[in-house]
Amino acid sequence: MKNKTVGFAVCGSFCTFGKVLEQLQNLKSAGFEIIPIMSYNAYNTDTRFGTAISFIEKMENITGNQVISSLVDAEPIGPRKMLDLLIVAPCTGNTLAKLAAGIADTPVTLAVKSQLRNARPVLIGISTNDGLCAAAANIGTLLTRKNYYFIPYRQDDCINKPTSLVADFSLLLPCVNAALSEQQLQPILR
Ligand SMILES: Cc1cc2nc3c(=O)[nH]c(=O)nc-3n(C[C@H](O)[C@H](O)[C@H](O)COP(=O)(O)O)c2cc1C
Repeated sequence: MKNKTVGFAVCGSFCTFGKVLEQLQNLKSAGFEIIPIMSYNAYNTDTRFGTAISFIEKMENITGNQVISSLVDAEPIGPRKMLDLLIVAPCTGNTLAKLAAGIADTPVTLAVKSQLRNARPVLIGISTNDGLCAAAANIGTLLTRKNYYFIPYRQDDCINKPTSLVADFSLLLPCVNAALSEQQLQPILR
């Protein structure tokens, strides 16, 4: 979409990083300017899903912008009105809890706080094994808060991980367009 800038904030749900890259490419092809943002844990942790540096390089190559990875770089998002929309996907149980509690001590949570300062939209894509357990209350809290939108989500493995929830990343583009028009894509539960 012409003239729209979205922030794409990534938290430490490392198994979803492949889907993130796919969706960054989709957004780029659709014409969005994309500012990548990462939590400290996402930015600094090598896991069995890959090294941090290789993921960072891929994000920067696709978007053409440097990853925001510090509080100092995340803070201007509000004052400079940098983003039309802020996506947080994947959003971990940890970051959901912080957002619900109003804690802003990572680049991602401060980016959200900074974005909400201007009453601008935030789109959450949850990915957490405790979505129907400890994180359930936090999802409920954010569902009722102004300017938050959700990528529709589902249980991803109800037999082996009965409390796990994950957003359907393939719906990102229609969710972005809906959230930019202050609409929640429905149905939320898939
Ligand atoms: C390999 C690996 C996979 C993980 N996957 C998830 C996940 O899918 N969802 C989640 O909520 N936390 C997951 N975690 C735990 C988070 O990374 C951890 O809670 C961290 O504190 C999140 O920090 P952040 O929310 O600031 O990114 C995972 C951790 C590791 C090492």
